[in-house]
Amino acid sequence: MSLLKLAHQYIENELCLGDRAIDATVGNGHDTLFLAKQVGNTGRVYGFDIQRAAIVATTALVQHSQLLNHVTLIQASHADMATHIPISQQGKITACMFNLGYLPKGDKRIITQTSSTLLALTAACQLLAPQGIMTILAYPGHVGGDVETARVSEWSEQLDSKQFAVSTQFSATPSPSAPRLLVVRKLCGDES
Ligand SMILES: C[S@@+](CC[C@H](N)C(=O)[O-])C[C@H]1O[C@@H](n2cnc3c(N)ncnc32)[C@H](O)[C@@H]1O
Repeated sequence: MSLLKLAHQYIENELCLGDRAIDATVGNGHDTLFLAKQVGNTGRVYGFDIQRAAIVATTALVQHSQLLNHVTLIQASHADMATHIPISQQGKITACMFNLGYLPKGDKRIITQTSSTLLALTAACQLLAPQGIMTILAYPGHVGGDVETARVSEWSEQLDSKQFAVSTQFSATPSPSAPRLLVVRKLCGDES
């Protein structure tokens, strides 16, 4: 099973009709559509991408499945996600997906950047509901992806184990350049 399918499986086990979810990197919209189908017409998906092409492609894909009314697409960095999610929904997000790297079939020079990715991961931790889940698919095989993957792994290791459980899944044929999937589960509410 691909790591992307595995990420979907983790989320499928948690995300129900009526829930809220975030796609932090909408790209061509496949993950947004997956999340939108899971939450149905009583839920909501918030999707972020810095590229207009990604927002346009995702709008068309989700519209085709008649789920656009339940999806909010935002052309902005995921680092700023907290400023775009209504206060009433903060701490109530059941699932958040990150699929790092570049837009498939798009401009491969536009990649997720370590500094904004780390800010976004920290913001997502705050936005998650207790028992909420976050999947992070990281690709060390492209230039910049190696450092980003290493920093994301370090970031996950320093999370408070009383508040978050982290697991990492590797490709069936592991190598330093093979993708990996980090799964972060929020165990309880923020203590602050
Ligand atoms: C691997 S693609 C995502 C694939 C997507 N989930 C799908 O189903 O097609 C990564 C995406 O992250 C986007 N991205 C890069 N930096 C970003 C940022 N700071 N905030 C949000 N999206 C970003 C890229 O534009 C690209 O579309």
